[in-house]
Amino acid sequence: MRTRFILLILIVTWQCKAQSPLIIPDTLVGPNYNLTMHLDSVQFFSNGPKSITLGYNSNHYLGPTLILNKGASVNITVNNQISDTTTVHWHGLHVPSKWDGGPHTPILSGTTWNPQFQVKDNAATYWYHPHLHEKTALQAIKGAAGLIIVRDSIEAQLILPRKYGIDDIPLIVQCQQFDSLNQALPLGMQDSTLLVNGTRTNNGNIAYLDLPAQIVRLRILNASGERVFNFGFSGNKNFYQIASDGGLLNAPFDTTRLRLGPGERAEILISFIGMTGQSISLMSYASEIPMGTQGGPTMPMIGGPPMDSPLNGVDFNVLDINVVSPTANPILTIPTSLVVNTPYLESQSNTARKIDFTAASDTIMDGPFYFNDSTFNMMRIDYIIPLNSIEVWTLVNKTMVAHPFHLHDEQFYILDRNGMPPPPSEQGRKDVVLVAPGDSVRIIAKFTEYTDSLIPYMYHCHILMHEDAGMMGQFIVSSSPVGIADLFEQYQFELYPNPATVELNIKAEPNVEFSIEIFNLLGERVFYSSKRQIKIPTLQFESGLYIVKITSNKNTFIKKIIKQ
Ligand code: C2O
Ligand code: CU
Ligand code: CU
Repeated sequence: MRTRFILLILIVTWQCKAQSPLIIPDTLVGPNYNLTMHLDSVQFFSNGPKSITLGYNSNHYLGPTLILNKGASVNITVNNQISDTTTVHWHGLHVPSKWDGGPHTPILSGTTWNPQFQVKDNAATYWYHPHLHEKTALQAIKGAAGLIIVRDSIEAQLILPRKYGIDDIPLIVQCQQFDSLNQALPLGMQDSTLLVNGTRTNNGNIAYLDLPAQIVRLRILNASGERVFNFGFSGNKNFYQIASDGGLLNAPFDTTRLRLGPGERAEILISFIGMTGQSISLMSYASEIPMGTQGGPTMPMIGGPPMDSPLNGVDFNVLDINVVSPTANPILTIPTSLVVNTPYLESQSNTARKIDFTAASDTIMDGPFYFNDSTFNMMRIDYIIPLNSIEVWTLVNKTMVAHPFHLHDEQFYILDRNGMPPPPSEQGRKDVVLVAPGDSVRIIAKFTEYTDSLIPYMYHCHILMHEDAGMMGQFIVSSSPVGIADLFEQYQFELYPNPATVELNIKAEPNVEFSIEIFNLLGERVFYSSKRQIKIPTLQFESGLYIVKITSNKNTFIKKIIKQ
């Protein structure tokens, strides 16, 4: 009995001390990038079966880090080798909507997708992940995600660490819920398993990394489905935030905390000078996260599933760092200034929109949540935004929980939060902003360059479960928005029946000439008539969603139809 007890203690202490070296994802450099998505499995836990995972290329989990250069033309091939449809979205990048990888551009199983675009974004840390309608969480939490590092000539002139994996470290932080058979669930309420770069890092196993005794740069992505992190180091050692989602800050921000909601990124510099032989931990000071923000103290919930992760509201380690000897030519200084950000001014803006975050009732904490009381609809364009419009969007959270709001297409600046200017950490370019319960946040963005009247861009909550459950909307950027808006209102054309079965009828004013194009969701044109035609046979169309584009001499009319 006694020996068994001692043995148990030994096993427990041994498990508590277990350390795994942090996995550093490999890199791909351009101009041609090949990503093959495949089904895989990983033994995350010492007991029980392997976890089914998704990975890109040779990675069992997650994908390679893509290194992009601003101004370069890239040619990406995504090959879908899983048995389900997927998409790949380049989160934070400014690309044409047909290459944005949203839910309207599915990549069917066994097929490839070949986006080609010019890199327009500033040096910063971006990422990629699937964005399939209602299945983003399901695929992303199995490991379908990766980092994107954009470099540019301005960043290149600064004295900054940029030796990937040596003094410039990618950290993809995820917190997930696994079932009793070690399978990841697309749920966030009881997420208790921490992963960094796919290395499990809690419950008896901690990820560690050797870093040199010099200035080191960490690029941190919160790729969790739901959890907010309040990063800091053990002993409250200070560090310097140098970048937010979409670019460098004006100057390094000397701080001890970095709060990141799902989807957000930041780059920090930390000095390990003179610390050879010492250890330090990257932590989340979650005890400082307020109730209502995921990761803060568990909210007592009436009915519904419990939000009872043991990580809620307590401080915990994310990564152990052992400081080792400096490298050759180490970076030993923190720059005093970085770039010049010039946020758009409210006085330049031409449109104001207001988005309320809502739920069916006040007591709902696990969703579904809505924008302006309506759920996402693939067939509804929520906003038609005129090209080059500078817009102020007011985001008002009327629910009980925090939501990280994400905008596709363009980086934005935060004008204010509850009337107060944002802290230095949020004064740079952003594509996600965490909006706490009761908060009113105003953001400003300019919608430049890319127009497409067929394929919209998304905006959504980046809590993946909320997104999948309908907390999402879509917009198109149009160079002839007046024409489109007018037509939507005047109903110059009408399509019926919708859903269509054997034929689609077009009601149009007599003698109006027009051409018709019909596209499937892959953007392939499946029907074309250069002249007026009011009956289109649709029997041979596969069932699904189609986009009908009617062009008259005055205007373009776009409507989605369903073929049954
Ligand atoms: Cu990171 Cu629309 O997503
Ligand atoms: Cu995005
Ligand atoms: Cu949300």
